[in-house]
Amino acid sequence: MRPDHPNIVLDPLEIEQRSEAIVQRLQEAESGAAEFLDAYRLAHRSWPADWPYNRVPPAVQILLRSAEARKQGFVTLVHKAVLLTGLVEQRRVHSQHPAWRLALSSFDEAASQIALSCDEPRSGELSYPDDNFAKDVAIATGRGWGVDGLFFEAHRGIERSRVLRAGVAATVDLIRATMRGRGTRPAYEHHVYGRLLHRFTPEGRMNAYRVVAEAIAHDTSARGILGTAWYYDPAVAKISPRLAYLRQLPEARGAIFLKVETSQSDAASAVSKSENRRRLFESGQYRPQAFTLFWPRKALLAWRRAGYP
Ligand SMILES: CC(C)(COP(=O)(O)OP(=O)(O)OC[C@H]1O[C@@H](n2cnc3c(N)ncnc32)[C@H](O)[C@@H]1OP(=O)(O)O)[C@@H](O)C(=O)NCCC(=O)NCCS
Repeated sequence: MRPDHPNIVLDPLEIEQRSEAIVQRLQEAESGAAEFLDAYRLAHRSWPADWPYNRVPPAVQILLRSAEARKQGFVTLVHKAVLLTGLVEQRRVHSQHPAWRLALSSFDEAASQIALSCDEPRSGELSYPDDNFAKDVAIATGRGWGVDGLFFEAHRGIERSRVLRAGVAATVDLIRATMRGRGTRPAYEHHVYGRLLHRFTPEGRMNAYRVVAEAIAHDTSARGILGTAWYYDPAVAKISPRLAYLRQLPEARGAIFLKVETSQSDAASAVSKSENRRRLFESGQYRPQAFTLFWPRKALLAWRRAGYP
């Protein structure tokens, strides 16, 4: 989904004002609402560090069910407040961080779209399991970062079972990657981020990797960058040549690619935006195949030392 408001960037002060107004509305909506908001935000802080952004922990689910059982519209107000108050807080954190401050313009664009989406949310847009919402909350609670067309989360690892199910050659590649990276976990994993899709370009990609290489340089535990997608399949360069850069740019700078089992959602994503890929798929000339990118810390730091050529 292309973003709704790609060119509108709100003043951070306006987001602060919107945040204060939402908290006020929430307090007026129900007694005890402010305490509920505090408890709900706290529950998000207890998200296990290595859980993905879309695996909602029980502490959050319990409070979510309790919010849903209250007055109609209460849960939407709570979610708006979580997003807006969190964005105000996280902007300060981002602007002081040695790496994420380099992505402050991405943060401001994403924050603007999130704030605008709070004006007239579509049904289901402001709650789990909506994918943008889950990523937005992760950003607003300090568990994720939006950089150019991507969303990153830390503490992730290669899904070994998916590699093993892809066959012997893939398993050998996994051993090679593990040796090269001196382990592959924890790593910074990326996903496509709908709020910043207009930055999904070769320049955006290089910039995102540079910012995350900086984050990794300041995070001694991180083993590298990770990401799984159909567009890392070498066959994509022939079918959709304008996407060839997605594999070529990191591969030329030390990233390794592992074949993994293709999920239904990978296959659906591969054909969802392109008439050409859909036609080739339907005629049996294209079979989506997922690959995992693993860019080891050592290679990233070497790229950094060279000045990011
Ligand atoms: C990954 C993704 C963001 C890449 O988008 P993209 O850079 O626009 O590239 P796509 O090849 O997908 O573009 C889709 C169509 O728009 C066209 N297009 C894209 N950019 C264009 C441009 N600047 N000018 C003209 N046409 C353009 C392409 O030609 C393509 O149509 P076609 O293949 O029928 O010719 C997009 O495919 C997507 O959102 N996919 C679903 C989510 C997904 O895959 N997530 C990853 C999960 S594994």
